Amino acid sequence: MLPRVILHNEVSVDGRMDWISPDIGIFYELASRWKEDATLAGCDTILKQEKEMPEEDDEVFEPQKKKSGDKRPLLVIPDSRGRVRKWHALRKAGYWRDVMALCSHSTPMTYLDYLRKRHIDHVIAGTDHVDLKAALEVLNARYGVGLVRVDSGGTLNGVLLRAGLVDEVSVLFNPSLVGGMSTGSFFRAPDLMSKEKVINLELIHVEKVKGDRVWLRYKVVRWNTTL
Ligand SMILES: NC(=O)c1ccc[n+]([C@@H]2O[C@H](COP(=O)([O-])OP(=O)(O)OC[C@H]3O[C@@H](n4cnc5c(N)ncnc54)[C@H](OP(=O)(O)O)[C@@H]3O)[C@@H](O)[C@H]2O)c1
Repeated sequence: MLPRVILHNEVSVDGRMDWISPDIGIFYELASRWKEDATLAGCDTILKQEKEMPEEDDEVFEPQKKKSGDKRPLLVIPDSRGRVRKWHALRKAGYWRDVMALCSHSTPMTYLDYLRKRHIDHVIAGTDHVDLKAALEVLNARYGVGLVRVDSGGTLNGVLLRAGLVDEVSVLFNPSLVGGMSTGSFFRAPDLMSKEKVINLELIHVEKVKGDRVWLRYKVVRWNTTL
């Protein structure tokens, strides 16, 4: 079975992510309302923060002590190319009960070995990039994940949306307009060739929040059935 998947992003009124000044406090206060079982973070979102994270020490090779009844979510990162190197810092951040990598059959063996040495659990799904549908099914079946909140940029959002794996889209509108021809949006994907794959949405929540922001939540109505 697939878990419920929610995208949550702060974007400009024209849907852009680059250049805006998000209010991290409001963003995560709203995000905390879902109490997800797993946070699915884009690898590039994590890599952007890695520079500020501390280097490893010998502790990283110790098995993780699990606390019973720990209700914090699992942090899950699709990383088919083996790019994330600061898992220890993410583990220590305190927001998640543990961390997990999603890899594919193209992930270098040296990286899988790197993960094993650090007791970092990983799921292998897909040949090139991670097969997200298969990986989500494993998260549900093996780890009891029923609700996933995605914390990523437009790339991972785009793959999930085009694959029909998203149940809800939550958008916190930042009162700004960015514009641009190549500026990142929260839905980056190959252009459509017809209207059939337009994703219809049903409004389920509207809230005005601090600083002229508006929070909209939409349920995904799978594909355009009006055609
Ligand atoms: N404003 C907001 O609310 C918000 C929230 C989060 C992040 N951000 C910003 O978003 C930016 C990063 O976004 P991004 O779009 O560059 O990257 P991203 O979505 O964070 O990361 C891309 C992810 O997509 C995976 N991927 C790519 N192609 C795939 C495919 N065909 N199948 C399966 N998985 C695939 C990558 O895995 P592989 O490594 O395996 O390719 C990677 O995990 C950062 O600047 C961050 O600050 C903004």
